[in-house]
Amino acid sequence: MAIPKTLIFSTCLIPLTFLLSHLTMANPSSYSRRISPTTLGFHEEKLTHLHFYFHDVVTGPKPTMLIVAEPLKGKSDIPLPFGTTVAIEDPLTQGPEAHSKVVGKAQGLYTSGAHEAMELMMVMTFAFTEGEFNGSTLSVMGRNMIEHPLREMPVVGGTGAFRFARGYAQTKFVSVDFVKGDAVVEYDVYVFHYLTHDSAAPQSFHDGLEFMVDPILGKMSIN
Ligand SMILES: *[C@@H]1O[C@H](CO)[C@@H](O)[C@H](O)[C@H]1NC(C)=O
Repeated sequence: MAIPKTLIFSTCLIPLTFLLSHLTMANPSSYSRRISPTTLGFHEEKLTHLHFYFHDVVTGPKPTMLIVAEPLKGKSDIPLPFGTTVAIEDPLTQGPEAHSKVVGKAQGLYTSGAHEAMELMMVMTFAFTEGEFNGSTLSVMGRNMIEHPLREMPVVGGTGAFRFARGYAQTKFVSVDFVKGDAVVEYDVYVFHYLTHDSAAPQSFHDGLEFMVDPILGKMSIN
């Protein structure tokens, strides 16, 4: 008995259209698609070790940190009472000396996160301005147990050469003044990231610095 032609046609057509719609993402409401990492230039994952010094300067003519929130005074006898929040723009240098070559800066916040101890919650970006990683950034977020000799914080992401970065930062004090607050901290950062063919720094990176030359907020009167 001959199989009707229409039956052959429709049984072939159904799986074919099903397959095509999945290959071409025909669903018009969809906002996502699968792509190969190589289409964006992500080929080989590498492990990079970065080593630099972080300067948190409190005293002197050019402090690099600012206390932006302070809990009620007299309630705590630890140097950074619970809730104290500090904004930082701290230089990162190649060596531990204050005049060592600057390789980037740390921008962000830290908050004292414990009533009875010196534990910080840090949220910051390392923005590099030298060498292979000029224009690239790393984002760090985590707990910094500053009473411990060696602390660890996660690296949760990055931009430029550090897109898809993940890793950890180990830190220890080179010098610290727990009364005044000045600190030099050694950082060893280990990150997995890709060597890409397209990791150029975004153009706006340095435009941002020009904007800072004429700050808008500094001109506002706060009464
Ligand atoms: C870092 O990149 C910026 C922007 O591309 C450039 O102007 C600057 O000269 C670079 N710095 C170094 C040290 O290469």
